[in-house]
Amino acid sequence: MDHRRVVIDSYGGPDVLRIATEPLPEPGPGEVRVRVLAAGVSFADLLMREGIHPESRRPPFTPGWDLVGVVDKLGANASSATVGETVAALPIVGGYSEYLCLPAGELLPVPDGLDPAEVVSLVLNYGTAYQMMHRSVGARAGESALIHAGAGGVGTALLELGGIIDLEMYATASRTKHGIVSGLGAHPIDYQSSDFVQEVEALTEGAGLDMVFDGIGGTHVARSYRTLRRGGRVVAYGHATSLVDRTLVGGRRGRFRGIPSLVGQVVRHWLIPDGRRLTIYSIQTLKKRRPRWFREDMATLFGLLADGRLRPVVAQRLPLVEAARAHELLGERSVTGKIVLVCTE
Ligand SMILES: NC(=O)c1ccc[n+]([C@@H]2O[C@H](COP(=O)([O-])OP(=O)(O)OC[C@H]3O[C@@H](n4cnc5c(N)ncnc54)[C@H](OP(=O)(O)O)[C@@H]3O)[C@@H](O)[C@H]2O)c1
Repeated sequence: MDHRRVVIDSYGGPDVLRIATEPLPEPGPGEVRVRVLAAGVSFADLLMREGIHPESRRPPFTPGWDLVGVVDKLGANASSATVGETVAALPIVGGYSEYLCLPAGELLPVPDGLDPAEVVSLVLNYGTAYQMMHRSVGARAGESALIHAGAGGVGTALLELGGIIDLEMYATASRTKHGIVSGLGAHPIDYQSSDFVQEVEALTEGAGLDMVFDGIGGTHVARSYRTLRRGGRVVAYGHATSLVDRTLVGGRRGRFRGIPSLVGQVVRHWLIPDGRRLTIYSIQTLKKRRPRWFREDMATLFGLLADGRLRPVVAQRLPLVEAARAHELLGERSVTGKIVLVCTE
C-alpha cells in the first residue's frame, strides 16, 4: 500500500513543497507507525522550509512540527503503545505525511472525543505558551504581562492561558487585529504606529511590567527588557521578523543574525544583575532536558481542552495536498489561528 507525504528537495518559497507517493514506512524496533489525522502548519515550518530556522534539516526532508494520529502498527519492543489509540507528537519534522514512524516514547496520549485539529493546535503553540508561562517565568495570578504578536499563533495561546490565571495583559498587534487581542482580554498596542516602550510606560504610569513574552527576537528583546519593573522577566523565544511577506530579512546568510545579540544580552544581564531577568526558551530544548515536564504540561493542556476551558482557533482545514497553499496563507499573515492539514483515508 502507498501513502503520500510532502517533501522539500531544496530550501525556498511555498512552491518547493512537493507531494511524493511511496510505500508505507515500516516501524523499526521501539517505533510505532502512526496514521496522521491532523498536522499543524506553523511559522517554524516556514522558517525550516527557507532553511533559516536553527532546527532546519538538510533537504530532502518532510516538514511538520506537530501532529495528531492513530497508532496503526507496532514495531518490535514498542509495547507501550496500543494499536487504535489516538496520540499526539512533536517530531519537529515529518508531520506532513499520511503515515510516519516515531519512537513509541515520543507519543502523547490524547483523551477520547476531542477534535484532532483542535488538539494539534495545542501541541506547539500552547505547549510553548504554557511552558514559558509556568516553567520559564513562573507567572502568578494578577501579574502584568506584555505579549508581542498577540494575534499570532503563540500570542493567542499566551493570551488564552493568561486569561485563565487573570494576568493583566497588554499585546502588540497590527491595528486590524486589535479586536482579536482585546477579545482575549488584552489591551492592544499598535506596534507599527507607536513605540511600545513608551506606550507601556504610559499605560502602567511608569510602574513597568512583571513579564514580557518576545517572539520577535534580536535587538527587539532589549527594548522589551526596558519595559520591566524590578523583579520582572523577559522570555525570548523566536525570530518572527526574519520572514516578512515572503521576504527573507537579512537573506539566508543572515539567518542567525539575532542570536549573537541575544546571547550578548543574556551574558550582560548575568554579569551585571539589575533585579530583572532575561531567559531564552526553546520547546525542543526543554523537551529534551525535561521530558517529564513536557508530558505533564501536554496532559494539562489536553485536560483544559476537554473541560472546555481552551478554545483554540482552527483558521483553516486543508487537505495534505494543499500544503503549499497553507504556507502561502500563513506567510501572507492573512489567517488568525492554526492552519491544519487534515488527512482522510
Ligand atoms: N522557542 C520556541 O520553542 C518556539 C515555539 C513556537 C514558535 N516559536 C517562534 O516564535 C515566533 C512566532 O511564531 P508564531 O507561530 O506565533 O508566529 P505568527 O503567528 O505567524 O506570528 C507572527 C506575527 O508576528 C507579528 N509581528 C511581526 N513583527 C512584529 C513586531 N515588530 N512587533 C510585534 N509583532 C510583530 C505579526 O503580527 P501582526 O499580523 O499583528 O502584524 C505576525 O503576524 C517564530 O519565530 C517561531 O519560530 C518558537
